[in-house]
Amino acid sequence: MAIPGSSRPVASNQAGVHARLAEIVARHLTAPDRKPIAAHTIAAFHQAACWAGPTARPLILDSGCGAGESTARLAQRHPGALVIGVDKSRCRLDKHRPPPDLDTLKNYRLIQAELGDFWRLAAAAGWRVTHHYLFYPNPWPKAAQVQYRWHGSPAFPALLRLGGRLEVRSNWNTYIEEFAVALQIAGYGCRVEALTAIQPVTPFERKYYASGHRLWRCQADLDPAGAVRPTAAETLYSEVFTRQETR
Ligand SMILES: C[S@@+](CC[C@H](N)C(=O)[O-])C[C@H]1O[C@@H](n2cnc3c(N)ncnc32)[C@H](O)[C@@H]1O
Repeated sequence: MAIPGSSRPVASNQAGVHARLAEIVARHLTAPDRKPIAAHTIAAFHQAACWAGPTARPLILDSGCGAGESTARLAQRHPGALVIGVDKSRCRLDKHRPPPDLDTLKNYRLIQAELGDFWRLAAAAGWRVTHHYLFYPNPWPKAAQVQYRWHGSPAFPALLRLGGRLEVRSNWNTYIEEFAVALQIAGYGCRVEALTAIQPVTPFERKYYASGHRLWRCQADLDPAGAVRPTAAETLYSEVFTRQETR
């Protein structure tokens, strides 16, 4: 079992923002992601869409929710909203235990799915969220791994299209700096700040905080009617999804 407070800070062979980040982000913003979406993620999105239904209630995403502690806390903070926590790890999701004070909440669900594909399906289906949280995404700190970071991945435009107030937290300042640069390239402003004296909201945040790591966040208001519009490929996935739904 991991010992709280024993986590090492992120180590990287990359100094500062990745030299090719701007080129990578610009390419993803102009070239649609044509990677096929796995049937299990289409099914997971369908499950989430059925739960959310044709509701007028605000939608909130907790992307990479792990064991879903933050998802339950967000559901408590936004009782009028529906909160969806998404994570690819069944093992993490199965560890979900609502905090004792929150075990009667009915306005959240945890969904097992691959996030990039889930965002593409959600954006193509016209979802617009009011808030979108990415708490401590895997940093992928080696320079060669830049395209695995969300802002360097082909899924970044879909994340932008979902709109809402975005908040990304990390214990690696380069991740946050890069995220801010990527947002700027896409035409969005943001606010970056260090988090101090916090009440941790996720297990990783608790671990990093107890270990004395410096923590950062980037916040942005994403305009859903902004420059990034659904791509032909995403429209196709939307049609596939709609066909599945009406079967
Ligand atoms: C460092 S953990 C943070 C978990 C949680 N947000 C927290 O702060 O405690 C990163 C999480 O992202 C999930 N994740 C990483 N890549 C993913 C992907 N492509 N699709 C869905 N989940 C992913 C992992 O399974 C893991 O639970």
